[in-house]
Amino acid sequence: MTDSVKIVEVGPRDGLQNEKSVVSTEVKIELINRLSAAGLANIEATSFVSPKWVPQLADAAEVMERITRRPGVTYSVLAPNLQGAKNALAAKADEVVIFTAASETFCLKNINCTIDQSFDRYAAVADAVKANGVRLRGSISCSFGCPFEGDVPISSVINVVRRLRALGCDEIDLADTIGVGTVKRVRALVPAASGEFPIERLAGHYHDTYGQALANILASLEAGLSTFHSSVAGLGGCPYAPGATGNVATEDLLYLLHGLSLRTDIKLEDVVTIGDFISNAIHRPNFSKAGSAFLAKTRSANTPESCR
Ligand code: HMG
Ligand code: MG
Repeated sequence: MTDSVKIVEVGPRDGLQNEKSVVSTEVKIELINRLSAAGLANIEATSFVSPKWVPQLADAAEVMERITRRPGVTYSVLAPNLQGAKNALAAKADEVVIFTAASETFCLKNINCTIDQSFDRYAAVADAVKANGVRLRGSISCSFGCPFEGDVPISSVINVVRRLRALGCDEIDLADTIGVGTVKRVRALVPAASGEFPIERLAGHYHDTYGQALANILASLEAGLSTFHSSVAGLGGCPYAPGATGNVATEDLLYLLHGLSLRTDIKLEDVVTIGDFISNAIHRPNFSKAGSAFLAKTRSANTPESCR
């Protein structure tokens, strides 16, 4: 097992893209700035997608322009086509994320094209991103199952891994879009994927819909993975994946990792405070178990004895 783990905080993008009401640009900027100040060195900030498809992130350019860029922090953004990639490069993103799927139906519903067509689009994106010396990451939705097709063969995921590798991706995400993955699937998929792409450049992106994310992360660590995506307060979901809930909460991930004595250079307490901030700001429950437990303990310690 690795002794240090890379965390990619996806709350500002994967989290806020899924909120019913549009979150203000001010709140998005404050969230990103608080996360970078807490030591999160990889932050998925927003998406340069069609505002008709995802109105929640229509302010992508403004968010990128107004955040405080901390040295050493990688601010990544999603781009579904060349138009998005050009906007991402103009916004000085440090990393552009192209996203496709291991399931045809999901690909169509999410980006309105087949998997083959997505690779036709992404060839030009990869060229533009690489020509600008910017990192390229590829995300594979439905690597563990599809909301429309159900089981997805591992061979379909591996096929997409190979195609993303051929485009020159620096990193590839195995995404459990709807949180249906199991430890058994992780134990089969991670070794198969790492046979095709260096394991230190593979990432686990686990939604926690069925409560399996932490178990799957532990299994992934045991299989040699060392990069994981998470979202503060467990924000998130995918607007084009019915029933998908948030990513594993960053607070819960940190509690697991620190309990295993793995290094993250991030203080859990700081992230708990950010989880409390964003949950209050957007009027939703805090879905982090560790965050909620920590906050309850702190509040009870601050309650005068006569009121307990
Ligand atoms: P389309 O309608 O087929 O696009 O959508 P089009 O090329 O026909 O263009 C239609 C209109 O959209 C045009 O404007 C374009 O200019 C505009 P009009 O002439 O009608 O005024 N347009 C754009 N505007 C801004 N930025 C762009 C852009 N592209 C076109 N980049 C498209 C195709 C891919 C654009 C659309 O389907 C789309 O934006 N999809 C994004 C969906 C999305 O963001 N899903 C969530 C993120 S993925 C995710 O959450 C999964 C992940 O977390 C991993 C996991 O958990 O699985 C990553
Ligand atoms: Mg996701």
